[in-house]
Amino acid sequence: MTPEAPDSSQPRVALVTGATGAIGKAIARQIAAHPDFEVVLVCRDEAKAERAVREIVAATGNSKVRYAPVDVSRRSSIEAWAAGWRGPLHVLVNNAAVAPRTRQETPDGIERQFATNVLGYFWMVQAFTEHLRRSAPARVVNVASYWAGDLDLGDLEFVRRRYNNNEAYRQSKQADRILTVAFAARLKPFGVTVNACHPGDVRSALSGNLGFGGAQTPDEGAQTPVWLALDSAGGEQTGQYFEHGKAMHCPFGAHRVSVEALYEACLRFSPMPPDPATDRRGGHP
Ligand SMILES: NC(=O)c1ccc[n+]([C@@H]2O[C@H](COP(=O)([O-])OP(=O)(O)OC[C@H]3O[C@@H](n4cnc5c(N)ncnc54)[C@H](OP(=O)(O)O)[C@@H]3O)[C@@H](O)[C@H]2O)c1
Repeated sequence: MTPEAPDSSQPRVALVTGATGAIGKAIARQIAAHPDFEVVLVCRDEAKAERAVREIVAATGNSKVRYAPVDVSRRSSIEAWAAGWRGPLHVLVNNAAVAPRTRQETPDGIERQFATNVLGYFWMVQAFTEHLRRSAPARVVNVASYWAGDLDLGDLEFVRRRYNNNEAYRQSKQADRILTVAFAARLKPFGVTVNACHPGDVRSALSGNLGFGGAQTPDEGAQTPVWLALDSAGGEQTGQYFEHGKAMHCPFGAHRVSVEALYEACLRFSPMPPDPATDRRGGHP
């Protein structure tokens, strides 16, 4: 199905989760530097979000920047906000993540890294699938990492394994890359691309918790996610994993059975039809 060409008289709309953080704020600012974009910062801390909006408006001169208070680790918070969303959505950047040093659970009783770094991405795509489809061509960019591995489908929440924040983080970033493949296949017929990337190595609250420094600036770290969000390459390719603006071989998405097993596992945390693979409502495009 070929999506209709975008209406250039209307602003294009982008959502960026975790836009009060090091890389997320730089992603939001770089997208807002394009005056044809409206950018919504999806953030859990309203005071920080207000400051980030002011900063980005001052830096870019783009007044179409605002925030939405959302806790992406809670499906109810995402859904309550998404239910009131009116209008188009062209770019969704899933970026919010945590790596707490001790095992924590959300108020819904889900291990916090899995809830934020994996289900947060999953629920955002689910909640906005219909808007992305209606706004196609549209894109999802999942900020993942080269630091990924050790996914255990039998112990996604570190109940059986002893919690280690580094291991839980690597698992979550592997899951982001796998889910990218799962959503890409489902959304391709509707003109919505889904890609994952490593951003850069940036000093941040998250990298500090993992014991990493980070030699790049947030603006450098934002380059590949922003390139996927804006460059034509990010609209032409789907289901890929990128580093430094280049598609890399990613072993994680190669096994169809494990891709679907993780997708199904995430659905069990969020028994929310419709699955975009089977749902054909909406009719556009
Ligand atoms: N830094 C690196 O070197 C590096 C390397 C590879 C990949 N990454 C990836 O890059 C992304 C951004 O990381 P970062 O280094 O910029 O981290 P960061 O500075 O710690 O920012 C994380 C952001 O996520 C937000 N967040 C956390 N939990 C949330 C929730 N429940 N609801 C809404 N927002 C929430 C934080 O909000 P608060 O401001 O309220 O805390 C913050 O805005 C992550 O996906 C990470 O895995 C980073």
